[in-house]
Amino acid sequence: MAKAIKAVSTIVSKVEDLGHDTKRFTLVDQDDWELPPFRPGAHIDVHLGNGLVRTYSLCNEPDDDRRYVIAVKREREGRGGSSFLHDCVEVGQPISVSLPRGGIVPNPAGTNVFVAGGIGVTPFISVIRHLERRGQSNYALHWTSRGLPILRDMIVPAIEAGRVRLYDTTKQAQPVVAEIVGDFAGSGLAACCGPAPMLKAFEDAVSAWPEDRKHIEMFTPPKVPARSDVPPYELYLSASKKLATVTPDVGLLGTLDALGVEVPVSCGGGICGACRTRWTEGPPIHRDRVLSPAERQNELIVCVGDCAGQRLVLDL
Ligand code: FES
Repeated sequence: MAKAIKAVSTIVSKVEDLGHDTKRFTLVDQDDWELPPFRPGAHIDVHLGNGLVRTYSLCNEPDDDRRYVIAVKREREGRGGSSFLHDCVEVGQPISVSLPRGGIVPNPAGTNVFVAGGIGVTPFISVIRHLERRGQSNYALHWTSRGLPILRDMIVPAIEAGRVRLYDTTKQAQPVVAEIVGDFAGSGLAACCGPAPMLKAFEDAVSAWPEDRKHIEMFTPPKVPARSDVPPYELYLSASKKLATVTPDVGLLGTLDALGVEVPVSCGGGICGACRTRWTEGPPIHRDRVLSPAERQNELIVCVGDCAGQRLVLDL
């Protein structure tokens, strides 16, 4: 038997059309109990039926524990998840989500500088609400948008206190990310979520920073080659006692699929963490953008993973 995937049953309690192709969804327990806890800026996978799973950052904060709030922009060129949420999900509808995972741990002593583009602000809204609840003002948000940004209603006190710098890119140039984060090179945390050019500028600006002082969230995974360049290896699933050979044309995820093993897959490109799986024999090849070096000691992001040896054992 494949390992059961932990899911949380919720009901859609509110759907708000915020304009600019963006809707905000509030999910609650059907009996209004507290939902499983989460860290500021954590993600949930939303199970949309028909095998569609999409990952979204929570915008509310951990103390607001009876709801999960997500904001979804319709991606017209996307893979269908955001359109499904916009067109087919209504108040009262049950919806299954994963346990929250990940999140951002703000630096308690130094400054936290957040750089966001458009809807990429969602994890930082959660972090800012968390900090504001505690009376902590050791952060700054630099937020670009085309016109007035949506979701600003969730951080009004922070905006009024001058801790949020808004850049309307219909009227002014994009800010220089290296200048924003440059002042904090010696201390504090810097985090970025936004479009690819912004992420690239951020990655370049913090390339020499220690890993624990920088945080990058991507919306779109980097392109994964259709065919792996790794020689065939044996795959053994210790929980379900299944054995197979992974070949370059089928790959690890394809092999798991062929074995009928249920692994939640959202981005399919190593950036969301939905498919993280424990491994016990390898060593694996890690190509993801989510696991820390410590987590890689016993976890693998299987949608982009492989094996560097002859046998990979996964706890599935
Ligand atoms: S499905 Fe997103 S990291 Fe694997």
